[in-house]
Amino acid sequence: MGCTQLIAPSTLEALIPTPAVMSFGKSFRSHFPHLDPAVTPLNHGSFGLTPGCVTEQQKRVCETQEGYSDRFHFSDAERIYAQQIQALARYLHLDPRNLAFVTNATCGVNTVLRSIKWDFSRDRVLLHSVSYAACANTVKFLADYYGLQYDVVKLDYPLEDDDLLARFHEKLATGSYRLCMFDMISSMPGVKLPYEQLIQLCKQHDVLSLVDGAHGAGLVDLQFLDTLQPDFMTTNLHKWLNAPKSCGMLYVNPKHHATIQSLPISWNYSLQNCQYIPNPTTAEDRLQNESLMHNKFWFAGTISYAQYFSVEEAIKFREETCGGEDRIREYQWQLQRDAVPLVLAEFGPGAKLLQNSTNTLAVAGMFNVSLPLSEKYSVLKQKLVSDVHYFQNFREKCAALMFSRKAFLPLVCHNGELWVRFSVQVYNELEDYRIGARSVKSAVAEVLDAELSA
Ligand SMILES: Cc1ncc(COP(=O)(O)O)c(C=O)c1O
Repeated sequence: MGCTQLIAPSTLEALIPTPAVMSFGKSFRSHFPHLDPAVTPLNHGSFGLTPGCVTEQQKRVCETQEGYSDRFHFSDAERIYAQQIQALARYLHLDPRNLAFVTNATCGVNTVLRSIKWDFSRDRVLLHSVSYAACANTVKFLADYYGLQYDVVKLDYPLEDDDLLARFHEKLATGSYRLCMFDMISSMPGVKLPYEQLIQLCKQHDVLSLVDGAHGAGLVDLQFLDTLQPDFMTTNLHKWLNAPKSCGMLYVNPKHHATIQSLPISWNYSLQNCQYIPNPTTAEDRLQNESLMHNKFWFAGTISYAQYFSVEEAIKFREETCGGEDRIREYQWQLQRDAVPLVLAEFGPGAKLLQNSTNTLAVAGMFNVSLPLSEKYSVLKQKLVSDVHYFQNFREKCAALMFSRKAFLPLVCHNGELWVRFSVQVYNELEDYRIGARSVKSAVAEVLDAELSA
């Protein structure tokens, strides 16, 4: 008798060592084989970085799609799309019926803003001054082309949450707004907004909420979607959830399933199974109403499904290779706690972490530190903080230098200071922040010195 038959399966399981979850840090970059080994990656917040196992899955889907396009599109794609949405919903603990894939957060915002039946003679949108420019531009487009009105809440960080909420409240209480668009986590600077209270504030004032959660999935718990039920929310999956580019998610409150439309408008607009049934009497009718997000979004013109059909693989990577969301987050927070004093020391006297008195601006994956500029640059600093075009030009020159050093960090002028945003990801370790801080500090000095001697 072989020994395995003598051991009860549960005992056997205990004897087999579970594969050790690899430690994070630079050695973990082996899971990201496409990354140039000479690069110090400190800007995950912009585009994310896809693990090799996920790009392999993406490649397999491409090959399957190309292998027999007709069968893939006519027979398999819809079913696999639904499976991937289910897997995502299970992972995020959300109701899959409210979710659809979109290519990115910008597309999510466009999908919502271009699905609303605006009354352009009176409707007004509220956004904030740190809104992502691509999304703010969608509002501006509707204003320029159709006359939609909008207002901007000025946000100048570091802001206390109460102060931020009071600024929104002051505007919303006027009763002048149909929709309010706000970030969960802003881009530049990378700070968290009190999005749950903002959703409640919108409800209180009967204003539609559109939550730009581009950085949400993979950084914060999204269960608030099903409990607080904002009207709309979009998040990227390619930033912090390790899905391939271009992969995002759109959440739509059930009360808008009838009116939301895919971008682009496609076949689905007039398909029978994409129409909302006002007073459903049969189980079939109810099922149709509950399936509208799927029916409207799974096919809206020919695309590669490779990124959407790699979502389950990305989740597996996070669960099995990384050891789960808690372990990831724990590492990010710890590394951030260690990296902040290092960056402050590298930047020198006057450098500040962007934070408020209750520490609510922080997110696990990003922090912002001001880069103090020496007195000799005071005239140039004045230009940087007051002239957008001058700053853009300066930023481009700094970026070119940082690219050449293979350690790029994004810069922003905000509230009279120059800020550097650092990302924190499982493949980072403390030394990266020394390299990054030196790269950006020397690039800025080099560009400003060249300006002084011009
Ligand atoms: C707050 C915010 N909104 C929207 C976006 C747009 O994301 P994407 O370019 O993937 O559409 C970003 C990207 O960084 C962002 O930070």
